[in-house]
Amino acid sequence: MSSAVERLLPPERENLRAYRDRGGYQTLAAFGHNQDLLRERVASVTLTGLGGAHFPFATKVSAVLKTPGPRYVVANGAEDEPGSQKDKLLIERNPHVVIEGALLAAAAVDADEVIFYIRESLLEASASMADALTEVAADGLAGDRVLRIHAAPITYVAGEASAALCSLAGEDAKPNAQPPYPSESGYLGQPTLVSNVETFANLPRMLSDDASSAASRSRLATVTGDVVSPGVFEVDPLTTTLRDLIAMAGGVPGEATVKAVQPGGPSSAYVSATQLDTALTNEAIRGIGSQPGCLAIRVVADTRCMVEEVAAVAAFFAREQCGQCPGCRMKTTSYSTLLGKVVQGAANWELLGQFATIDEFVADMPRKCALIDMPTAPVMSAVEHFRSDFADHIDNEKCSARNDSQSEK
Ligand SMILES: Cc1cc2nc3c(=O)[nH]c(=O)nc-3n(C[C@H](O)[C@H](O)[C@H](O)COP(=O)(O)O)c2cc1C
Ligand code: SF4
Repeated sequence: MSSAVERLLPPERENLRAYRDRGGYQTLAAFGHNQDLLRERVASVTLTGLGGAHFPFATKVSAVLKTPGPRYVVANGAEDEPGSQKDKLLIERNPHVVIEGALLAAAAVDADEVIFYIRESLLEASASMADALTEVAADGLAGDRVLRIHAAPITYVAGEASAALCSLAGEDAKPNAQPPYPSESGYLGQPTLVSNVETFANLPRMLSDDASSAASRSRLATVTGDVVSPGVFEVDPLTTTLRDLIAMAGGVPGEATVKAVQPGGPSSAYVSATQLDTALTNEAIRGIGSQPGCLAIRVVADTRCMVEEVAAVAAFFAREQCGQCPGCRMKTTSYSTLLGKVVQGAANWELLGQFATIDEFVADMPRKCALIDMPTAPVMSAVEHFRSDFADHIDNEKCSARNDSQSEK
């Protein structure tokens, strides 16, 4: 019988001793040397990737195992997603749960080396991981495996799996066309398991014998935007709603109320205040027409204008696209330009129809990553749910934002 740490985020940073006191490294001790049993457990684990795309972890592992080794494991902690801080806090506070998870994965796929890919500006997280790796080396927990940190460049696309592999190869961190997928040909051209650090952090508790406890389901959610106390919260997604989470973050400041929420980072569709009683499960969030992503939840108060809000999102994607694919360049810059016109009161309703035309135009154009699709959901949902804000700009030459700097343009 093995037990494992249940909560991912301790109140303070845990060293090896404190982590062990909570049951840390017991799952690795139980299964790390029994590869058949470990693979059996991994094959049935109901874990989807928490970097945002929610691809089933077990399927990815089985893809990595199809190609002969040597194999590698990359723990993705690049986290340049606006509004997401869960990976940063997880690595800072609990580096050992990430390491234990990555070592379990390495044991399952027979990987020689585990690389922790951490955004280079996350100095505290990198230092915390470096200290933890020193403890692991002194304790011999990794056996012959090489464990090291690689500094991820500070760009949004650097977190994309194939871009991470380019960075590891000493090249510019830009996405590569796939296939071949990292699971077939990744680091050094070898099969590589690239997963988010929170995904790995779930393995110790999900693979252990006591995996049925409620805490095993907890997820990390970052709340930002118009709340009193933005931050990262560890929640049970089955019992916590968007409304609960906003309350945990101190609610919306002053007299303002919630106008919109973006539940899964800047690429997710906005939902309106009528949807706040939605639970934080992937299914529930998809059920209200949005995407869970990495649970980077942005709260927008009724003092804001949704046109300006979504124009900032479109500008982000236009700025962060890496320029390799003409279709992505064209779409992201056009979206941003069109929304800029609406903000300035220089647009008509026909112009809004151009978003769909642009999407159709680029639909068959080659792309090397998913960023090209990202502006569509936030923009289309803003137009659909907050039409009166667009009407204010288009028909009335004013802005619905209540604060002075934005009103009456
Ligand atoms: C533009 C872009 C940026 C991404 N940034 C990150 C990131 O910072 N961290 C991350 O874990 N995944 C990021 N991803 C997803 C990765 O490509 C990859 O799917 C993920 O690391 C796999 O881990 P998971 O299956 O555990 O989610 C990004 C994807 C795209 C398209
Ligand atoms: S789709 Fe966009 S961000 Fe992705 S590789 Fe192409 S240009 Fe770069």
